[in-house]
Amino acid sequence: MANQIKGLVLAGGTGTRLRPITHTSAKQLVPLANKPILFYGLESLARAGVRDIAMIVGDTREEVQAAVGDGSRFGLNVEYIHQNKPLGLAHCVLMANDVLGDSDFIMYLGDNFIRDGVTEFVETFSKRADGTNAQILLAKVSDPHRFGVATLDSAGHVVSLVEKPKVPESDLALVGVYLFDQTIHEAVRAISPSGRGELEITDAIQWLISNGKKVRSHIVDGYWKDLGEPEALLEGNRLVLESIDRNIGGDVDEMSTIEGRVVVEPGAEITRSKIRGPAIIGEGTVVKDSFIGPFTSVAAGCTIEASEVEHSIVLSGSRISNIHRLEGSIIGKSAIVAKTERRPLANRLVVGDHSRIDLV
Ligand code: G1P
Repeated sequence: MANQIKGLVLAGGTGTRLRPITHTSAKQLVPLANKPILFYGLESLARAGVRDIAMIVGDTREEVQAAVGDGSRFGLNVEYIHQNKPLGLAHCVLMANDVLGDSDFIMYLGDNFIRDGVTEFVETFSKRADGTNAQILLAKVSDPHRFGVATLDSAGHVVSLVEKPKVPESDLALVGVYLFDQTIHEAVRAISPSGRGELEITDAIQWLISNGKKVRSHIVDGYWKDLGEPEALLEGNRLVLESIDRNIGGDVDEMSTIEGRVVVEPGAEITRSKIRGPAIIGEGTVVKDSFIGPFTSVAAGCTIEASEVEHSIVLSGSRISNIHRLEGSIIGKSAIVAKTERRPLANRLVVGDHSRIDLV
């Protein structure tokens, strides 16, 4: 191994498509099972033995830096690089050139989630003896036109890569995790901006292929990326909850039942309620006279009373009261959803921009 593999983590951009949930958060900080998406990536890099991380941040840098700090709590050293404008993923490589030097590195897009982590890929790449210059991860997706798309030959070698093709040649999307040796620095200097005005990493990898470099691919399962739609966020949450372990840290009274894989974080109180996993109840949250159904994450400091909530995400500090049944819902921070007895008996809504409410 030439030198220790480094990490380049991309946590820039704004989460406009996730409004209103990301009005106050970077999209990489949106929680899945009560933990920011970005943290899963950082934890998987640390598990794979990566220590030094260059993190590209943009408009939301204050929030990202406040959440991640110097990285020590993940066992990482994180150095920040500020990108003023989103000029593309290959531009991020250009910006990080000095920090990365001639080290091998793993580039990780902070809004991508890979259930099984990256340890295996980092190990294979670090130990390679066949002169591989880049290793890309691919996943089968139902909407390849939203991704970089790879075409493989019958031996499984990458023949071509196209960024967001209108008519995709395959359903194999480029997962936002890439392993590179130093030849990528030459590639990112050689390419020109795409139609959307960005230096595309897909074009840089295509340049490697066209110039006789060795690009390997690997197909992964358990891949998720936020695509901005609420349903996609719920799906990511479900994917993470599917692999949690039962852990009851808070107080559960004798009249409550906890079924299956449920996490009750310390300081949470469950009273006269039923919680059916997989589900997670955050620190200091109070659940009383309620049912919390499968695939639900309730963040810290919430109150849920006399309500039923299933397949939903409830962010911190919110209150749900006397609601017969909430399903497939995303409740933002410090929101109140409550049934009222107040006259006149009517729906009274204070709804943020870009919100969506389905009433029955
Ligand atoms: C970027 C890449 C694309 C890749 C995707 C994965 O797209 O350009 O090839 O499939 O990340 O997250 P973007 O998020 O910039 O649209």
